[in-house]
Amino acid sequence: MKLFSFLPVLGLVAASQMPLKDATSLSTSSGPSFSHSSDFTVLTHGDHPDHKISIKNHDSSDAVCDGATKGYSGYLSISDWKHFYFYYFDSRKDPVVDPLILWLNGGPGCSSMMGLFLELGPCRVNEHGNGTYSNPSSWIEEASVFFLDQPIGVGYSYADKGHGIEANGTFAASEDIYAFMQIWYKTFPESRSRPFHIAGESYGGHYIPIFAKHIVDENAKVKQEDTIPLESIMIGNGMFDPLRQLTSSWDITCTNVTGIGPILSETVCAEMSTHIPRCEKLWKAAYDYEDNLIGEVAKDYCWTNLEGPYERSGYNYYDVSKLCIGVMCYAEVDQIDKYLNSKFVRERLGIPEEFQRYEGCSEKVGRAYEAVGDMYYPTTGEVAALLNGGLRVLMYVGTYDWICNFVGNERWLDALEWRGRFGYRHAARYEQKPWMGGETWEYENLRYARVAGAGHMVPWDKPKEALHMVKAWLKNEKL
Ligand SMILES: *[C@@H]1O[C@H](CO)[C@@H](O)[C@H](O)[C@H]1NC(C)=O
Ligand SMILES: *[C@@H]1O[C@H](CO)[C@@H](O)[C@H](O)[C@H]1NC(C)=O
Ligand SMILES: *[C@@H]1O[C@H](CO)[C@@H](O)[C@H](O)[C@H]1NC(C)=O
Repeated sequence: MKLFSFLPVLGLVAASQMPLKDATSLSTSSGPSFSHSSDFTVLTHGDHPDHKISIKNHDSSDAVCDGATKGYSGYLSISDWKHFYFYYFDSRKDPVVDPLILWLNGGPGCSSMMGLFLELGPCRVNEHGNGTYSNPSSWIEEASVFFLDQPIGVGYSYADKGHGIEANGTFAASEDIYAFMQIWYKTFPESRSRPFHIAGESYGGHYIPIFAKHIVDENAKVKQEDTIPLESIMIGNGMFDPLRQLTSSWDITCTNVTGIGPILSETVCAEMSTHIPRCEKLWKAAYDYEDNLIGEVAKDYCWTNLEGPYERSGYNYYDVSKLCIGVMCYAEVDQIDKYLNSKFVRERLGIPEEFQRYEGCSEKVGRAYEAVGDMYYPTTGEVAALLNGGLRVLMYVGTYDWICNFVGNERWLDALEWRGRFGYRHAARYEQKPWMGGETWEYENLRYARVAGAGHMVPWDKPKEALHMVKAWLKNEKL
């Protein structure tokens, strides 16, 4: 959720096939070495003297997350002061062979704990924010999943005192993600034999293509045994291309393309439509000149004139069928905040004293990303490069979302220049097929799934359909 510092963004998931070994039973002969402090196992690795992982084991009766399997939570520390929080769960099916998914929420600045406790994790937080209930449609039905809070300053991830969050955009963050994955595979070498997937949503449309491209580029440089087995990316209701996505607010609010519109009056819509050409012209200039200042002007102009009327309507930014209630339009987000700040959960998860307060989305990180112009940069080039290189790409989009809606997503995908673009465009128009959640089409390694009646957070609104879609994707079967 969250985008352009108005809204929170959602994450990504990556799956790889392996259940992780019990951290305490890991062999020390192959490189990693371990020490134990209280109930944490600390792992270091000779090849990466800069890194340290502190892991706390959780068994399946874990009281923090009902429905959890065996897993770990903990911190991976880089350069001794950046502490990345992650929470890993074994697949409910066969953790030895099932893939591994990394899930990342968006923002920029939003915690992946929202993905865990609201969307696709083993449990969902209850209405009182004092406990959880099991989620039968969790993606851990099919894969081992870990949720990562990034960049530093998001969720439970933090920097030591004396260090700022130093958020410097997605490209800089991709270095940390790559380091994280390298130390992960050194620590859990079994996981390298299972396919790895990165998944997420919303601003994940920025994060994931850049992270995945970085991994693919590094894979080409390192020794075979050090490659990361990235097989696909999956992105739900992503933001990739503001030029083609921001004007689609008009389609969503001024027509009946969602089946529940139009939402705004004819007068307001007529006025909105007059701003579309200039909005597009400004974005085009921002892209052509690669100038953040123009990007800022484009964002402000488009937001004020095309997003403003809906933003003031009282409807939910992430679901046009609902009203906006609570800080981020969902009361559940406040309940997650309450739960994750409780003494009980902090103790169970081993969150250190020096960590102050969990927030669903960090304003500070959001603003830092905005300051470096991170969101003005389209990630279409990265997506095209990944597709051309053969990586499998799944785009799924709930039709009730407003902020990163399906009209805008379908528009930029149609315009995307990659080797399969003509086949894809043809499929999008003439080969739409029904699936249990809506419509789908695909060409070569690019699949698109429309999820009828889901908002921005597809696994929250349509858990069964989302799991069905992910299952087919992981098995590389037709939807
Ligand atoms: C959670 O809060 C509700 C309502 O206040 C209460 O009835 C319930 O006992 C609480 N549960 C726990 C585990 O504290
Ligand atoms: C921030 O990232 C950009 C591009 O990735 C890089 O050129 C710049 O040096 C970085 N700035 C700092 C302060 O690290
Ligand atoms: C919008 O579309 C839905 C579904 O196709 C239809 O039931 C509804 O009557 C339409 N609303 C308007 C105002 O046309």
